[in-house]
Amino acid sequence: MDDTVALPIRSSTVTYDVIISQARYLITGESDKIANAANLSALIYEFLNDISWAGFYFKKGDELVLGPFQGKPACIRIPIGRGVCGTAAATRETQIVSKVEDYPGHIYCDSAAKSEIVIPMEISGSLIGVLDIDSASYDRFCEIDKTGLEHICSIYLQSL
Ligand code: SME
Repeated sequence: MDDTVALPIRSSTVTYDVIISQARYLITGESDKIANAANLSALIYEFLNDISWAGFYFKKGDELVLGPFQGKPACIRIPIGRGVCGTAAATRETQIVSKVEDYPGHIYCDSAAKSEIVIPMEISGSLIGVLDIDSASYDRFCEIDKTGLEHICSIYLQSL
């Protein structure tokens, strides 16, 4: 996605174009994978309303391993293909889950989680990890979040 395109879209207390411009500002001139993931998870957690967890998992072998995040302690290792994160990694498609109880194989890290969105991240066709956002409300995430969060992931990937 072209990260120069403004996205005047709203699914939170601020518009995604504000979050995206802050994301660019935060990681400009920095290419460290962990530092940029840490700052982006903090930015998302701060600006998106009604979310309970925001963070990264990185691919290591056949698993996703917990990276920088904001929220409660979480599962450390997720096999690719399992749960929402593992499905996003396996299919390379963003997963929006409106009601986690109805998702076969959903992995509970936090019993308060009710809905979830997971964005896969690839560089030149290779999966490097996923961005995972949870909410304690059902049906929290929509196409606006998908577009905005995929854009933030593209900015992250360009920084590496
Ligand atoms: N619920 C996720 C596991 C990760 S936590 O939400 C942080 C899943 O099913 O993949």
